[in-house]
Amino acid sequence: MSDKTLLEVTDLVRYFPFREIQGLRMVKASVRAVDGISFSVQEGQTLGLVGESGCGKSTTSRLVTRLDTPTSGKIVFEGRDITTLKESQLRDIRRDIQMIFQDPYSSLNPRHTIGSILTTPLKVHGLHKGREKQRVKELLELVGLNPEHINRYPSEFSGGQRQRIGIARALAVEPKLIIADEPVSALDVSIQAQVMNLLAKLRDELGLAFIFVAHDLGVVRHFCDQVAVMYLGKIVEYGDKRNIYERPEHPYTQALLSAAPDINVARGVPPRERIRLVGDVPSPIDPPSGCRFRTRCWKAQELCATEEPPLVESTNAHLPIQGRENGLHLQACHFPEIKPALVAEVPA
Ligand SMILES: Nc1ncnc2c1ncn2[C@@H]1O[C@H](COP(=O)(O)OP(=O)(O)O)[C@@H](O)[C@H]1O
Ligand code: SF4
Ligand SMILES: [Mg+2]
Repeated sequence: MSDKTLLEVTDLVRYFPFREIQGLRMVKASVRAVDGISFSVQEGQTLGLVGESGCGKSTTSRLVTRLDTPTSGKIVFEGRDITTLKESQLRDIRRDIQMIFQDPYSSLNPRHTIGSILTTPLKVHGLHKGREKQRVKELLELVGLNPEHINRYPSEFSGGQRQRIGIARALAVEPKLIIADEPVSALDVSIQAQVMNLLAKLRDELGLAFIFVAHDLGVVRHFCDQVAVMYLGKIVEYGDKRNIYERPEHPYTQALLSAAPDINVARGVPPRERIRLVGDVPSPIDPPSGCRFRTRCWKAQELCATEEPPLVESTNAHLPIQGRENGLHLQACHFPEIKPALVAEVPA
């Protein structure tokens, strides 16, 4: 992993405006899907973006890949501001940043063969001219599929195999950054680990940077270098993996961690403490004042309703972890407090 910044996102906002009838009047309102988030990804680094359904993860993914345009904020890729580039100016970005989608069923055109699905991006970007078929076979091999199946249709493959095709399609254009939006959520548990292992192998072999989106912290634990935890359009805690997993400070991160189906919990080693998160995520049309998590937070006080807690450096950032220098750790709670051992750890 280098320390060259690949992607820098600053104060990213995406509101979806709509009109609704209130009494006899038509009023303007908006869904505040992403509400001022900042993060960065270094070359070859993996950032996990985690939070419950509806917190703005897919919207963030679509903004960074520029499939959508932000309401405000800035997206800089390799030093170039891509925030408002038009489709005609996005050619390089369409190659450098690729997306793997959640649903391997709907993301592949059922009327096209695998060969044609994988040849299209090569042709669009003029890659491997004259040896496209050979390259498609190499890609199939790379993702663990039989290259002889090049003329088959998506319906002839299982869910896990289709997700492998989606991965091959993303890799076809040799991207620098891959955004994987819950790439294993739609798959059987038994298949999830296989696809995760494939992604980890490809990432290491090809030196790719990743943004890995997930709705629980268990999935990204062994995959990410850094993790950003989102709640209702905001980042509430963000830092190096060890800080997030070993000494989380934000109550929401703590609740997610204690709910994560960690592999060690499955092996029968329970976490020392369990926190049960109650209630639903409030509407992003009219989020709670102050701290957005306060309606579900067991520590909420008056200040939490009146003042929004900013995302600031953890007060424990200076403390080394296990003798090693501490890395990035930001959190947004008025009353942060470390709770270790929320995830079971099997002794070495
Ligand atoms: N095109 C859209 N128009 C209106 N609301 C949207 C649109 N896309 C997403 N939203 C809303 O924005 C919020 C965040 O959605 P999303 O980014 O898909 O969350 P996640 O991926 O974390 O589940 C949700 O409340 C969702 O309903
Ligand atoms: S700011 Fe208050 S409501 Fe928000 S997480 Fe911290 S204690 Fe809970
Ligand atoms: Mg989503």
